[in-house]
Amino acid sequence: MSQEPWESVDSYFIEKLVPENEALKAALDDSEAAGLPSHAVAPNQGMFLNLIARLLGAKKILEIGTLGGYSTIWLARALAAGGKLVTLEASALHAAVARKNIERAGVADRVDIHVGKAAALLPSLFEQGAGPFDLIFIDAGKPSNPIYLDWAVKLSRPGTVIVGDNVVRNGAVVDGNSKDPNVLGVRSFIDLVAENPRLSTTALQTVGLKGYDGFLLALVEG
Ligand code: SAH
Ligand code: DHB
Ligand code: MG
Repeated sequence: MSQEPWESVDSYFIEKLVPENEALKAALDDSEAAGLPSHAVAPNQGMFLNLIARLLGAKKILEIGTLGGYSTIWLARALAAGGKLVTLEASALHAAVARKNIERAGVADRVDIHVGKAAALLPSLFEQGAGPFDLIFIDAGKPSNPIYLDWAVKLSRPGTVIVGDNVVRNGAVVDGNSKDPNVLGVRSFIDLVAENPRLSTTALQTVGLKGYDGFLLALVEG
C-alpha cells in the first residue's frame, strides 16, 4: 500500500522533532492490545498540545475523553510544578488501560481519571469548585460537544484556552445536510463558539497520520 505524502511528512517531522519516548509508545501498544480504537492524537499533535500547555504555564488542565491516556500523558508532562490534570472517560475499560499507561509514564501523581459520562461529571466538577482550568482539551464523543463547550466555558477564566479535536472530519464539517451525529455535534459546537462573545476562536485543518481533520482553538476573553 502506497503511503500518502502527508503520512510520510508526518513521519519525517515526528522522527526529527518529537522526542522518542518508551512510555508513550507503550501506551499506544497497550491501548491497541486491549482493543481500544486508534483515536489517540498523533505524536506531533501530542507534542503540539504539550507546547500549548507549556506556553500557558498551565497548572490546571481538563481533558474530556481519555481513551488510553496518550494525550493525557503529553498534557500531564507539560504541567507546571504542583499542577494537576483531570481527565474524563466514559468507558471503564479505556480508563483502566489509561491508568496503567499513566502510571508507567510516571505522571499518576498529577492525573485524576474520573470515570463516567462527561455530561454528568462536568456539572459535579463545577459544583466542587474544580475550576477554573488553564487549558481544556475537548476530545470525547462529538455529538455532546455543545454540552462540553457550555461546561468548558463555565470552568474557565479570562485567559483559559479551549482546544477541540476532530473538527474537520474528512471535510464533512461543511455538509449542512449531514445526518452524521458526529458532524452535527461539531457543527453545533462551531455555531456555539461563533456566537459566544467571550470566545476568540479559530480552527485549522490538518493532514497527516490521522488523515484529514483539524483542531479548534479558543481563547476565553474577559
Ligand atoms: N484524547 C485521547 C483520545 C480520546 S478518543 C487521545 O488523543 O489520546 C475519545 C474518548 O472519549 C473515548 O475513549 C471514548 O470512550 C470517550 N467518550 C465517548 N463518549 C464519552 C462521554 N459521553 N463521556 C466521556 N467520555 C466519552
Ligand atoms: C474519532 C475520534 C477522535 O477523537 C479522533 O481523534 C479520531 C477519530 C472518531 O470518533 O472517529
Ligand atoms: Mg480526537
